[in-house]
Amino acid sequence: MEGDQPTSRPAAATRVVHSAGPPDPRSGALVPPLVMSATFAHGNPEGLAYGRDRNPTWELLEKAVADLEGGAGAVSFASGMAGVAAVLDLLPLGAEVVVARDAYSGTRELLAHLEATGRLRRRVVDATDPRAPEAALGAAMVWLEALGNPLLSVPDLPAWKESAGRAGALLVVDNTLATPLLCQPLALGADLVVHSASKHLGGHSDLMLGVVAGDDPDLLQRLHAHRTRQGGCPGQLEAWLTLRGMRTLAVRIERQAASAAWLAGRLLGSPRISAVHYPGLMGHPQHDRARRQLKGGFGAMLSIEVDTDAAGAERVCAATRIWTNATSLGSVESLLERRARWAGEEYLPAGLIRLSVGIEEREDLLRDLAQALALVGAGPDLG
Ligand SMILES: Cc1ncc(COP(=O)(O)O)c(C=O)c1O
Repeated sequence: MEGDQPTSRPAAATRVVHSAGPPDPRSGALVPPLVMSATFAHGNPEGLAYGRDRNPTWELLEKAVADLEGGAGAVSFASGMAGVAAVLDLLPLGAEVVVARDAYSGTRELLAHLEATGRLRRRVVDATDPRAPEAALGAAMVWLEALGNPLLSVPDLPAWKESAGRAGALLVVDNTLATPLLCQPLALGADLVVHSASKHLGGHSDLMLGVVAGDDPDLLQRLHAHRTRQGGCPGQLEAWLTLRGMRTLAVRIERQAASAAWLAGRLLGSPRISAVHYPGLMGHPQHDRARRQLKGGFGAMLSIEVDTDAAGAERVCAATRIWTNATSLGSVESLLERRARWAGEEYLPAGLIRLSVGIEEREDLLRDLAQALALVGAGPDLG
Protein backbone atom coordinates (compact mmCIF):
# COMPACT_ATOMS: atom_id res chain seq x y z
CA MET A 1 0.00 0.00 0.00
CA GLU A 2 3.01 2.30 0.18
CA GLY A 3 2.34 3.55 -3.33
CA ASP A 4 -0.98 4.95 -2.09
CA GLN A 5 0.70 7.23 0.43
CA PRO A 6 1.25 10.40 -1.62
CA THR A 7 -2.41 10.58 -2.71
CA SER A 8 -4.16 9.38 0.48
CA ARG A 9 -5.29 12.08 2.89
CA PRO A 10 -3.14 12.34 6.03
CA ALA A 11 -4.82 11.29 9.29
CA ALA A 12 -6.43 13.91 11.53
CA ALA A 13 -3.57 13.47 14.03
CA THR A 14 -1.18 14.58 11.29
CA ARG A 15 -3.38 17.31 9.83
CA VAL A 16 -3.90 18.90 13.22
CA VAL A 17 -0.15 19.49 13.62
CA HIS A 18 -0.18 21.41 10.34
CA SER A 19 -3.55 23.02 10.88
CA ALA A 20 -2.19 26.55 10.50
CA GLY A 21 -1.09 25.74 6.96
CA PRO A 22 2.32 25.64 5.23
CA PRO A 23 5.17 28.03 6.12
CA ASP A 24 4.62 31.64 5.07
CA PRO A 25 5.94 31.83 1.45
CA ARG A 26 7.49 35.28 1.98
CA SER A 27 9.33 34.82 5.29
CA GLY A 28 9.44 31.05 5.72
CA ALA A 29 7.82 31.46 9.17
CA LEU A 30 6.43 28.15 10.39
CA VAL A 31 4.15 29.84 12.90
CA PRO A 32 1.35 31.86 11.34
CA PRO A 33 1.39 35.61 11.89
CA LEU A 34 -0.89 37.06 14.53
CA VAL A 35 -2.74 39.79 12.65
CA MET A 36 -3.81 42.35 15.23
CA SER A 37 -4.94 45.05 12.81
CA ALA A 38 -8.46 46.34 13.43
CA THR A 39 -8.77 47.69 9.88
CA PHE A 40 -7.35 46.99 6.43
CA ALA A 41 -6.44 49.35 3.58
CA HIS A 42 -9.08 49.38 0.86
CA GLY A 43 -8.08 47.56 -2.34
CA ASN A 44 -6.08 44.77 -0.62
CA PRO A 45 -6.00 41.46 -2.54
CA GLU A 46 -7.83 39.55 0.25
CA GLY A 47 -10.76 41.95 0.20
CA LEU A 48 -10.41 42.57 3.95
CA ALA A 49 -12.09 45.72 5.24
CA TYR A 50 -12.88 46.01 8.95
CA GLY A 51 -11.74 43.90 11.91
CA ARG A 52 -15.21 43.01 13.17
CA ASP A 53 -16.04 41.34 9.86
CA ARG A 54 -12.91 39.37 8.91
CA ASN A 55 -9.40 38.70 10.21
CA PRO A 56 -6.73 36.46 8.61
CA THR A 57 -5.87 34.75 11.94
CA TRP A 58 -9.52 33.87 12.57
CA GLU A 59 -9.78 32.54 9.04
CA LEU A 60 -6.79 30.20 9.50
CA LEU A 61 -8.46 28.84 12.63
CA GLU A 62 -11.86 28.49 10.94
CA LYS A 63 -10.28 26.59 8.05
CA ALA A 64 -8.49 24.26 10.47
CA VAL A 65 -11.67 23.46 12.46
CA ALA A 66 -13.73 23.00 9.27
CA ASP A 67 -11.09 20.58 7.98
CA LEU A 68 -11.12 18.49 11.17
CA GLU A 69 -14.92 18.44 11.32
CA GLY A 70 -15.18 17.59 7.62
CA GLY A 71 -17.26 20.71 6.93
CA ALA A 72 -17.24 23.30 4.17
CA GLY A 73 -16.49 26.13 6.59
CA ALA A 74 -16.62 27.49 10.10
CA VAL A 75 -17.23 30.76 11.91
CA SER A 76 -15.38 31.68 15.13
CA PHE A 77 -16.91 33.63 18.01
CA ALA A 78 -15.88 35.40 21.22
CA SER A 79 -16.76 32.33 23.31
CA GLY A 80 -18.57 29.04 23.02
CA MET A 81 -21.72 30.76 24.29
CA ALA A 82 -21.46 33.51 21.65
CA GLY A 83 -21.49 30.68 19.08
CA VAL A 84 -24.45 28.97 20.79
CA ALA A 85 -26.38 32.27 20.84
CA ALA A 86 -25.64 32.91 17.16
CA VAL A 87 -26.90 29.44 16.19
CA LEU A 88 -30.14 29.88 18.19
CA ASP A 89 -30.59 33.27 16.54
CA LEU A 90 -30.92 31.50 13.17
CA LEU A 91 -34.44 30.54 14.26
CA PRO A 92 -37.59 32.59 13.65
CA LEU A 93 -39.65 33.99 16.52
CA GLY A 94 -41.57 31.31 18.46
CA ALA A 95 -39.71 28.33 16.96
CA GLU A 96 -39.33 25.22 19.10
CA VAL A 97 -35.94 23.84 20.15
CA VAL A 98 -35.61 20.29 21.45
CA VAL A 99 -32.67 20.18 23.85
CA ALA A 100 -30.95 17.34 25.67
CA ARG A 101 -31.61 17.35 29.42
CA ASP A 102 -27.88 17.15 30.15
CA ALA A 103 -26.74 19.73 27.59
CA TYR A 104 -24.29 22.30 28.96
CA SER A 105 -26.07 24.27 31.70
CA GLY A 106 -25.22 27.60 30.03
CA THR A 107 -26.97 26.49 26.83
CA ARG A 108 -30.03 25.33 28.79
CA GLU A 109 -30.04 28.57 30.77
CA LEU A 110 -29.93 30.64 27.57
CA LEU A 111 -32.80 28.60 26.12
CA ALA A 112 -34.81 29.11 29.33
CA HIS A 113 -34.17 32.84 29.06
CA LEU A 114 -35.19 32.92 25.39
CA GLU A 115 -38.39 31.08 26.30
CA ALA A 116 -39.14 33.38 29.25
CA THR A 117 -38.76 36.43 27.02
CA GLY A 118 -41.03 34.96 24.33
CA ARG A 119 -38.28 34.53 21.70
CA LEU A 120 -38.25 30.69 21.41
CA ARG A 121 -39.96 27.62 22.87
CA ARG A 122 -38.01 24.71 24.28
CA ARG A 123 -38.62 21.06 24.94
CA VAL A 124 -36.21 19.29 27.27
CA VAL A 125 -35.74 15.56 26.63
CA ASP A 126 -33.59 12.65 27.72
CA ALA A 127 -31.76 12.45 24.39
CA THR A 128 -30.72 8.84 25.02
CA ASP A 129 -34.33 7.58 25.34
CA PRO A 130 -35.03 5.52 22.18
CA ARG A 131 -38.42 7.29 21.79
CA ALA A 132 -36.96 10.78 22.27
CA PRO A 133 -36.12 11.45 18.57
CA GLU A 134 -39.88 11.62 17.90
CA ALA A 135 -39.78 14.91 19.81
CA ALA A 136 -38.10 16.46 16.77
CA LEU A 137 -41.44 16.41 14.95
CA GLY A 138 -42.77 19.95 15.32
CA ALA A 139 -39.40 21.39 16.29
CA ALA A 140 -37.24 23.75 14.23
CA MET A 141 -33.96 22.72 15.86
CA VAL A 142 -32.60 19.80 17.86
CA TRP A 143 -29.71 20.55 20.22
CA LEU A 144 -27.55 17.61 21.33
CA GLU A 145 -24.05 17.00 22.64
CA ALA A 146 -21.93 14.24 21.09
CA LEU A 147 -20.83 13.42 24.63
CA GLY A 148 -23.01 14.85 27.38
CA ASN A 149 -21.77 15.60 30.83
CA PRO A 150 -21.39 14.85 33.64
CA LEU A 151 -23.07 11.47 32.98
CA LEU A 152 -21.23 11.09 29.66
CA SER A 153 -24.40 10.29 27.74
CA VAL A 154 -24.16 9.39 24.04
CA PRO A 155 -27.26 10.15 21.93
CA ASP A 156 -28.03 8.09 18.83
CA LEU A 157 -27.03 10.72 16.25
CA PRO A 158 -28.24 8.84 13.11
CA ALA A 159 -31.67 8.25 14.74
CA TRP A 160 -31.94 11.92 15.64
CA LYS A 161 -30.85 12.88 12.14
CA GLU A 162 -33.58 10.72 10.68
CA SER A 163 -36.34 12.33 12.74
CA ALA A 164 -34.93 15.86 12.46
CA GLY A 165 -34.72 15.34 8.69
CA ARG A 166 -38.38 14.26 8.54
CA ALA A 167 -39.37 17.30 10.59
CA GLY A 168 -37.25 19.69 8.55
CA ALA A 169 -35.46 20.61 11.79
CA LEU A 170 -31.80 21.59 12.01
CA LEU A 171 -29.66 19.14 13.97
CA VAL A 172 -27.00 20.92 16.01
CA VAL A 173 -24.35 18.96 17.92
CA ASP A 174 -22.04 20.44 20.54
CA ASN A 175 -18.81 18.49 20.05
CA THR A 176 -16.79 20.23 22.77
CA LEU A 177 -16.19 17.16 24.94
CA ALA A 178 -15.60 14.62 22.20
CA THR A 179 -13.42 16.86 19.97
CA PRO A 180 -13.30 16.35 16.19
CA LEU A 181 -10.61 13.73 16.72
CA LEU A 182 -13.03 11.34 18.43
CA CYS A 183 -16.30 12.25 16.72
CA GLN A 184 -17.34 14.03 13.53
CA PRO A 185 -21.03 14.84 13.93
CA LEU A 186 -21.38 16.29 10.39
CA ALA A 187 -20.62 12.86 8.97
CA LEU A 188 -23.30 11.42 11.29
CA GLY A 189 -25.93 13.83 10.01
CA ALA A 190 -25.54 17.07 11.98
CA ASP A 191 -26.18 20.35 10.17
CA LEU A 192 -23.97 22.37 12.49
CA VAL A 193 -21.26 21.49 15.02
CA VAL A 194 -20.52 23.79 17.95
CA HIS A 195 -17.30 24.01 19.97
CA SER A 196 -16.27 25.82 23.06
CA ALA A 197 -12.63 26.13 21.97
CA SER A 198 -11.99 27.40 25.50
CA LYS A 199 -11.80 23.65 26.31
CA HIS A 200 -9.95 20.96 24.30
CA LEU A 201 -9.15 22.94 21.14
CA GLY A 202 -7.26 25.64 23.07
CA GLY A 203 -6.35 23.08 25.71
CA HIS A 204 -4.51 25.28 28.22
CA SER A 205 -7.24 27.14 30.20
CA ASP A 206 -5.94 30.44 28.87
CA LEU A 207 -8.53 31.63 26.36
CA MET A 208 -12.23 32.01 25.59
CA LEU A 209 -13.39 31.25 22.04
CA GLY A 210 -16.15 29.43 20.18
CA VAL A 211 -16.36 27.90 16.70
CA VAL A 212 -19.36 26.69 14.68
CA ALA A 213 -18.66 24.45 11.67
CA GLY A 214 -21.01 23.23 8.96
CA ASP A 215 -21.53 22.31 5.34
CA ASP A 216 -24.36 24.56 4.22
CA PRO A 217 -22.97 27.82 2.76
CA ASP A 218 -26.21 29.65 3.52
CA LEU A 219 -26.12 28.76 7.23
CA LEU A 220 -22.43 29.67 7.41
CA GLN A 221 -23.06 32.99 5.70
CA ARG A 222 -25.91 33.79 8.11
CA LEU A 223 -23.69 32.98 11.09
CA HIS A 224 -20.93 35.19 9.70
CA ALA A 225 -23.40 38.03 9.13
CA HIS A 226 -24.72 37.58 12.68
CA ARG A 227 -21.20 37.91 14.09
CA THR A 228 -20.48 41.06 12.06
CA ARG A 229 -23.83 42.58 13.03
CA GLN A 230 -23.76 41.70 16.74
CA GLY A 231 -20.01 42.01 17.28
CA GLY A 232 -19.41 38.68 19.04
CA CYS A 233 -16.07 38.20 17.28
CA PRO A 234 -13.06 36.51 18.89
CA GLY A 235 -9.94 38.33 20.00
CA GLN A 236 -7.10 37.98 17.51
CA LEU A 237 -4.71 36.64 20.16
CA GLU A 238 -7.29 34.08 21.31
CA ALA A 239 -7.65 32.80 17.75
CA TRP A 240 -3.88 32.51 17.44
CA LEU A 241 -3.61 30.72 20.81
CA THR A 242 -6.32 28.29 19.73
CA LEU A 243 -4.35 27.50 16.58
CA ARG A 244 -1.27 26.91 18.69
CA GLY A 245 -3.18 24.68 21.09
CA MET A 246 -4.66 22.66 18.24
CA ARG A 247 -1.22 21.55 17.07
CA THR A 248 -1.04 19.28 20.13
CA LEU A 249 -4.71 18.29 20.24
CA ALA A 250 -4.09 14.73 19.07
CA VAL A 251 -1.41 13.88 21.63
CA ARG A 252 -3.36 15.59 24.40
CA ILE A 253 -6.69 13.88 23.76
CA GLU A 254 -5.04 10.50 23.23
CA ARG A 255 -3.23 10.67 26.57
CA GLN A 256 -6.11 12.26 28.46
CA ALA A 257 -8.62 9.70 27.19
CA ALA A 258 -6.27 6.81 27.99
CA SER A 259 -5.78 8.14 31.53
CA ALA A 260 -9.52 8.72 31.97
CA ALA A 261 -10.23 5.12 30.92
CA TRP A 262 -7.58 3.82 33.31
CA LEU A 263 -8.86 5.93 36.20
CA ALA A 264 -12.45 4.83 35.53
CA GLY A 265 -11.33 1.20 35.77
CA ARG A 266 -9.40 1.82 38.99
CA LEU A 267 -12.27 3.69 40.67
CA LEU A 268 -14.97 1.23 39.65
CA GLY A 269 -16.10 -0.93 42.56
CA SER A 270 -14.22 1.12 45.19
CA PRO A 271 -15.76 1.42 48.65
CA ARG A 272 -18.46 4.09 48.89
CA ILE A 273 -18.29 4.93 45.19
CA SER A 274 -21.71 3.84 44.00
CA ALA A 275 -21.24 4.68 40.31
CA VAL A 276 -18.50 5.54 37.83
CA HIS A 277 -19.79 7.19 34.66
CA TYR A 278 -17.49 6.71 31.67
CA PRO A 279 -18.61 5.61 28.19
CA GLY A 280 -15.57 3.37 27.79
CA LEU A 281 -16.82 1.12 30.61
CA MET A 282 -18.77 -1.95 29.48
CA GLY A 283 -21.47 -1.12 32.03
CA HIS A 284 -22.14 2.38 30.65
CA PRO A 285 -25.71 2.40 29.25
CA GLN A 286 -24.55 3.65 25.82
CA HIS A 287 -21.22 1.82 25.68
CA ASP A 288 -21.97 0.06 22.35
CA ARG A 289 -23.15 3.27 20.74
CA ALA A 290 -20.08 5.09 22.07
CA ARG A 291 -17.93 2.46 20.35
CA ARG A 292 -19.68 3.22 17.05
CA GLN A 293 -19.85 7.02 17.28
CA LEU A 294 -16.55 7.78 19.02
CA LYS A 295 -13.39 6.63 17.31
CA GLY A 296 -10.04 6.37 19.06
CA GLY A 297 -11.15 6.93 22.65
CA PHE A 298 -14.06 7.78 24.93
CA GLY A 299 -13.03 11.26 26.00
CA ALA A 300 -11.20 12.80 28.92
CA MET A 301 -14.02 13.17 31.40
CA LEU A 302 -15.60 10.84 33.92
CA SER A 303 -17.72 11.33 36.98
CA ILE A 304 -18.07 9.41 40.22
CA GLU A 305 -20.95 9.18 42.66
CA VAL A 306 -19.48 9.25 46.14
CA ASP A 307 -21.69 8.01 49.00
CA THR A 308 -21.54 11.28 50.88
CA ASP A 309 -23.45 14.53 51.19
CA ALA A 310 -22.67 17.88 49.55
CA ALA A 311 -20.32 18.91 52.36
CA GLY A 312 -18.44 15.59 52.15
CA ALA A 313 -17.98 15.88 48.38
CA GLU A 314 -16.82 19.50 48.73
CA ARG A 315 -14.32 18.29 51.35
CA VAL A 316 -12.92 15.76 48.86
CA CYS A 317 -12.63 18.39 46.11
CA ALA A 318 -10.85 20.81 48.45
CA ALA A 319 -8.35 18.17 49.60
CA THR A 320 -6.65 17.26 46.32
CA ARG A 321 -3.20 18.66 45.60
CA ILE A 322 -2.77 17.84 41.91
CA TRP A 323 -6.39 18.05 40.81
CA THR A 324 -7.68 21.62 41.04
CA ASN A 325 -11.15 22.25 42.45
CA ALA A 326 -12.42 24.36 39.53
CA THR A 327 -15.00 24.31 36.80
CA SER A 328 -14.14 23.70 33.11
CA LEU A 329 -12.69 20.79 31.20
CA GLY A 330 -10.40 19.73 28.39
CA SER A 331 -7.19 21.38 29.51
CA VAL A 332 -3.73 20.00 30.26
CA GLU A 333 -4.31 20.22 34.01
CA SER A 334 -6.77 17.94 35.80
CA LEU A 335 -9.84 19.58 37.34
CA LEU A 336 -12.58 18.27 39.57
CA GLU A 337 -15.71 19.73 41.06
CA ARG A 338 -18.94 18.79 42.78
CA ARG A 339 -21.29 19.35 39.92
CA ALA A 340 -24.55 19.90 41.80
CA ARG A 341 -23.05 23.12 43.21
CA TRP A 342 -24.29 24.83 40.01
CA ALA A 343 -27.76 26.13 39.23
CA GLY A 344 -29.37 23.86 36.65
CA GLU A 345 -27.45 20.80 37.86
CA GLU A 346 -29.60 20.08 40.91
CA TYR A 347 -30.92 16.92 39.22
CA LEU A 348 -27.56 15.28 39.97
CA PRO A 349 -26.73 13.43 43.20
CA ALA A 350 -25.19 15.75 45.84
CA GLY A 351 -22.06 13.59 45.99
CA LEU A 352 -21.36 13.45 42.25
CA ILE A 353 -17.84 14.66 41.43
CA ARG A 354 -16.92 15.45 37.82
CA LEU A 355 -13.34 14.74 36.82
CA SER A 356 -11.69 16.36 33.80
CA VAL A 357 -8.48 14.42 33.26
CA GLY A 358 -5.36 16.31 32.19
CA ILE A 359 -1.96 15.14 31.00
CA GLU A 360 -0.29 14.53 34.37
CA GLU A 361 1.05 11.07 35.24
CA ARG A 362 -2.01 8.93 35.86
CA GLU A 363 -0.56 7.21 38.94
CA ASP A 364 -0.13 10.62 40.58
CA LEU A 365 -3.71 11.51 39.72
CA LEU A 366 -5.01 8.29 41.26
CA ARG A 367 -2.94 8.63 44.43
CA ASP A 368 -4.05 12.23 44.92
CA LEU A 369 -7.69 11.35 44.38
CA ALA A 370 -7.44 8.33 46.69
CA GLN A 371 -6.05 10.37 49.62
CA ALA A 372 -8.83 12.96 49.20
CA LEU A 373 -11.60 10.34 48.89
CA ALA A 374 -10.24 8.58 52.00
CA LEU A 375 -11.37 11.61 54.05
CA VAL A 376 -14.97 10.41 53.57
CA GLY A 377 -14.08 6.72 53.73
CA ALA A 378 -14.36 6.29 49.95
CA GLY A 379 -12.14 5.33 47.04
CA PRO A 380 -9.58 2.67 46.22
CA ASP A 381 -7.19 1.32 48.81
CA LEU A 382 -3.75 1.75 47.25
CA GLY A 383 -1.98 0.10 50.16
C1 LIG B 1 -20.17 21.57 26.29
C2 LIG B 1 -20.02 23.06 26.37
N1 LIG B 1 -20.51 23.83 25.40
C3 LIG B 1 -20.40 25.17 25.42
C4 LIG B 1 -19.79 25.81 26.49
C5 LIG B 1 -19.71 27.29 26.51
O1 LIG B 1 -18.41 27.70 26.15
P1 LIG B 1 -17.67 29.01 26.67
O2 LIG B 1 -17.42 28.83 28.14
O3 LIG B 1 -16.44 29.07 25.83
O4 LIG B 1 -18.59 30.16 26.41
C6 LIG B 1 -19.25 25.05 27.52
C7 LIG B 1 -18.59 25.70 28.67
O5 LIG B 1 -18.34 25.10 29.69
C8 LIG B 1 -19.37 23.64 27.46
O6 LIG B 1 -18.89 22.85 28.44
